[in-house]
Amino acid sequence: MSDGTDTPMKPLDRLRKVHIKTYGCQMNVYDSERMVETLTPLGFEVSADVEGADLVILNTCHIREKASDKVYSELGRLREAQALKAQSGGRMMLAVAGCVAQAEGAEILRRAPYVDMVFGPQTYHRLPAMVAEADKNLGKGQVDTDFPVEDKYDVLPEERLPAGISAFLTIQEGCDKFCTFCVVPYTRGSEQSRAATAILKEARQMVAMGVREITLLGQNVNAYHGEGPDGREWGLARLIRALAEIDGLARIRYTTSHPRDMDDDLIAAHGDVPALMPFLHLPVQSGSDRILAAMNRKHKVDVFRRVVDRLRDVRPDIAFSSDFIVGFPGESDAEFAETLKLVTDVGFAANFSFKYSPRPGTPAADMGNAVPDAVMTERLIMLQQLLDAQQEAFNRSCIGRTMPVLMEKSARDPGQLVGRSPYLQPVHIFADASLIGHIVNCDIQDLKAYSLFGSLVSGDSMPSSSQPFSSQSGKSQTGQSPPVDPKERACA
Ligand code: 5AD
Ligand code: SF4
Repeated sequence: MSDGTDTPMKPLDRLRKVHIKTYGCQMNVYDSERMVETLTPLGFEVSADVEGADLVILNTCHIREKASDKVYSELGRLREAQALKAQSGGRMMLAVAGCVAQAEGAEILRRAPYVDMVFGPQTYHRLPAMVAEADKNLGKGQVDTDFPVEDKYDVLPEERLPAGISAFLTIQEGCDKFCTFCVVPYTRGSEQSRAATAILKEARQMVAMGVREITLLGQNVNAYHGEGPDGREWGLARLIRALAEIDGLARIRYTTSHPRDMDDDLIAAHGDVPALMPFLHLPVQSGSDRILAAMNRKHKVDVFRRVVDRLRDVRPDIAFSSDFIVGFPGESDAEFAETLKLVTDVGFAANFSFKYSPRPGTPAADMGNAVPDAVMTERLIMLQQLLDAQQEAFNRSCIGRTMPVLMEKSARDPGQLVGRSPYLQPVHIFADASLIGHIVNCDIQDLKAYSLFGSLVSGDSMPSSSQPFSSQSGKSQTGQSPPVDPKERACA
């Protein structure tokens, strides 16, 4: 297959419609945006609905259980839409992309022969060539799940489409850590960092189009080690410092990190780069050293605690979120209790907790010693109760404070805008739409569900400070928990 650069273009009689359904992590969100960018020159426009679409892409996630089953049932539904369109003389191409596509490959065509294209996270830059091929060959499904020699970023269109106020930017992909429960090293491949020059260029372009906040993405983002413009290897901290120099870029975040890769320079950056938001997602998975070893996490609980303490030393207002797995094979009651203790001691912000689910092909799936589902459920409920209480306490602690809020869009209520605090909490205020894209200081007055409600600080109509509020308590606080949509979680 070609690399997509020599794609024969179909002459256009009308704009064709593409509908993309994105599952899983932020990186899939980014990939879906990039797929649209490859299709735009071919005359595609995005459609919010399946009905009427000429191409439907499922960008799938394989991280936890039943991922493939969900894809097959979604395909079953799409088959009906496809048949309906065919009845009226039209054609709806179906594509499966992402990590399920990578893992299942040709099996998808065997079980769903009406699918036109199956391609993985490392081959979607070839989408134009695949569409051209599908245009010629009705009913001949294509599978492209290579880990190609060419770098997709060299082939993807340079021009980014407008991405709103807050946007994702993938800087690193894949993982070499091989945690025993995780499919990522198999579906996303080995760890690859993009060159810093390309990232800086993309970031500048995004800012020129109105982006004020960039979240740097990678399955192991703090293992970033790309080539810098000086020809040397840059770590994540070096890259963040360079990004912070971009005029107009107010906020920088990164996700998802591994505790082992929180090096001295990165910890220092949290203390001296004001644009770096004081909210870090740092998955720990378990509070038991024995379980961490069985998971091949390559760090002990104390390493995690030390990283948290050091970050709080340099940035006292920092808050943390994390990922936890309950019921890893062989996890005892006492080992689970160690996880509860860690959560109580550290005090997390937003959190994500999951029941262990065996992923085919991963070492943990063959470990035996399964924890009964009823026990997993019990543990999950216990852990989530603790985490929810911490989240609620953190959100409540924001009432009465002044927070810098990046205004993102109009809220559903007329006259109201919604933005994000440094901790990613949605903040609603009554304000003029001209403030969208600005950071404004807000007095926080109320909390409803996961959203904060407040008002513009008087006389502060157009500030652009990126400093978070400073009255946040430091190290000893527990229960920091800004809400993040669980659907927006990356791996690590
Ligand atoms: N079972 C349960 N949770 C998992 N995660 C990854 N793999 C599994 C699995 N097999 C969770 C981890 C990871 C998050 C993205 O998903 O907590 O950090
Ligand atoms: Fe890599 Fe994270 Fe998966 Fe571990 S959990 S293998 S660090 S992506």
